Amino acid sequence: MQIAIAKRLQHTEEYYFSRKLREIDALNRTGEKVINLGIGSPDLPPHPSVIEILHRYASMPDTHAYQNYRGIAQLRQAMANWYHRYYGVSLDPDTNILPLIGSKEGIVHVCMTYLQEGDEALLPNPGYPAYASAVRLSGAAGIPYALSAKRSWLPDLDGLAKTDLSKTKIMWLNYPHMPTGASATTTFFEEAVAFARQYNILLCHDNPYSFILSEHPQSLLSVEGALDVAIELNSLSKSSNMAGWRVGMLAGAEARVNEIMRFKSNMDSGMFLPVQQAAAQALSLDRGWYDELNAVYHRRREKVYRMLDALGCAYDDRQVGLFVWAKIPDTYPDGFALSDEVLQKSRVFITPGGIFGSGGQAYVRASLCAKEAVLDEAYHRMVKAAITIA
Ligand SMILES: Cc1ncc(COP(=O)(O)O)c(C=O)c1O
Repeated sequence: MQIAIAKRLQHTEEYYFSRKLREIDALNRTGEKVINLGIGSPDLPPHPSVIEILHRYASMPDTHAYQNYRGIAQLRQAMANWYHRYYGVSLDPDTNILPLIGSKEGIVHVCMTYLQEGDEALLPNPGYPAYASAVRLSGAAGIPYALSAKRSWLPDLDGLAKTDLSKTKIMWLNYPHMPTGASATTTFFEEAVAFARQYNILLCHDNPYSFILSEHPQSLLSVEGALDVAIELNSLSKSSNMAGWRVGMLAGAEARVNEIMRFKSNMDSGMFLPVQQAAAQALSLDRGWYDELNAVYHRRREKVYRMLDALGCAYDDRQVGLFVWAKIPDTYPDGFALSDEVLQKSRVFITPGGIFGSGGQAYVRASLCAKEAVLDEAYHRMVKAAITIA
């Protein structure tokens, strides 16, 4: 049978990593296992108390029913407490918070709630590919805004103000920025809020990396008046080592939460109750949890630096988040060429920066989600394969 796919999907290919993982699986069947430093999926477990709560509640007979679309009150309260404790942001758990099945689904919900054909959405280039896909699915046009090392990977808001913004409804922002690891300054967040207010644009800030290797987690919502013009997505995937559990959240003004609920409640239902209870526990952990995690990532990052040094790549050592973003040597045409060579010769996968947009062509990204011994092995494979420059 032949059946035409909908127009909205015609320019949306299968997700890059979904295809790449198949290629890596095929390589794995032909010999030495590929070391995958492509994806930011934490390999460390959640805190034992989180597992204990999941286990305890999942063992009960009466915890398996459908759940409220807005999540249980205990989880929303834990999310509000977490925002207050770590970001200094006050949110009403009943009106300003919507638990999500991971923040990635939130990106689609936001785009489907606000965008349609004829609208435009500003997107970071380089940036997380899911923003562009979600905008495309909504029927709106994605308008990339350039980020560069020269401007510390922050958008040129003055430059954007000189462009036609009459169709722009939303602007996606993401700091700490993935893939570059750049942090925003408070001044930039203030300017972004003022910009959004002036041009009547909804700022959509995606904030899953704020705890990783960062001393001071930052929320865009800490800027005065931000709730008038901004929403923020957050996630337990990275900061609580719960990527597979699918727990995220949206924070915003009551009206925004209600609007986005109109879409979301037609797409999915509330999360498994024990997952929500365990997530509430994860959010109640004190600073020591994040410090311990970051001590591990600090050590791993040194190993990744050594590997990238060996490849002749250059990087900014102030970056944060779960990856290291590095400029490739001039001897390679782009990050795809370097990534392919490293994969073929040393069976290590690092992500070509070009998958995050044209602004990432000259870069590669290596994940910190691998044990130190694995990172040592990756380095030795590269040295053995003699693709090292240094
Ligand atoms: C910038 C960014 N936003 C969102 C996500 C999705 O996170 P979640 O697991 O909460 O859906 C990722 C995952 O890699 C990401 O890099």
